[in-house]
Amino acid sequence: MRILVLNGSPKRDKSDTMHITRAFLEGMQDFGPQEIETIHVIDQHIEYCAGCFTCMHNGGTCIYDDDMRGILEKFLESDLLVFSFPLYCYGMPAPLKALMDRVLPLSAMTMQKVGDRYEHVGQADFSRLRYLMICGCGFPNSRHNFEAMTQQFQLMFPVRHTILTVPESPMFNAPEAAPVTVPRLALVRQAGKQYAETETVDDALLSKIGSPMIPEEVYASIVNGNA
Ligand SMILES: Cc1cc2nc3c(=O)[nH]c(=O)nc-3n(C[C@H](O)[C@H](O)[C@H](O)COP(=O)(O)O)c2cc1C
Repeated sequence: MRILVLNGSPKRDKSDTMHITRAFLEGMQDFGPQEIETIHVIDQHIEYCAGCFTCMHNGGTCIYDDDMRGILEKFLESDLLVFSFPLYCYGMPAPLKALMDRVLPLSAMTMQKVGDRYEHVGQADFSRLRYLMICGCGFPNSRHNFEAMTQQFQLMFPVRHTILTVPESPMFNAPEAAPVTVPRLALVRQAGKQYAETETVDDALLSKIGSPMIPEEVYASIVNGNA
């Protein structure tokens, strides 16, 4: 499978979230060989969408000739897009949002009703693509934290999507937290293998992965320097 990882953390390979993403990809490779390319979004030259809709009327060419052209080509050559990023202000980091806005050339202005919602008709064939969101965050709670981002991802990619959220993710970069992070990454690896095999991850496993690694109060007191 051709996998394109879009790393939305400005910390590049040092990203807390990328620990989770690497474990998931290792799990996929446990099932079979995968062709993986990672793009650090922060290093790309991506202009902000000008909102002119030129691309939606001219068959898909943006007015900007920047790195986004190559990224869109890679999208269409992939089987799986992995969006790996930290939760920022209950959403995605700005460089990744700038990239998402620039995906517009893949759609035409024509709208169609699908079920009870409208979507733009594609001007490229991405029917093969699957979408995975892997999102870490700094608070210990998942509720009242990830909801807006998961909803946005589901709206952007209504089908063939899978979502992993992990609270307390700064612990992945803390060697002293290994007694809890190593088993959590083992669960993520298991999820990756399951995904490669079945194109899905069961809800029970997703829920375990999305639970706090240590009790919320303990985590908060460590962060606050009280433990
Ligand atoms: C600008 C900014 C906004 C953030 N917003 C949230 C947030 O809304 N919820 C949360 O739980 N953590 C938030 N965090 C914490 C990060 O999600 C957390 O530190 C994460 O582990 C960083 O992951 P990374 O190393 O992959 O970039 C925020 C951090 C920054 C810098």
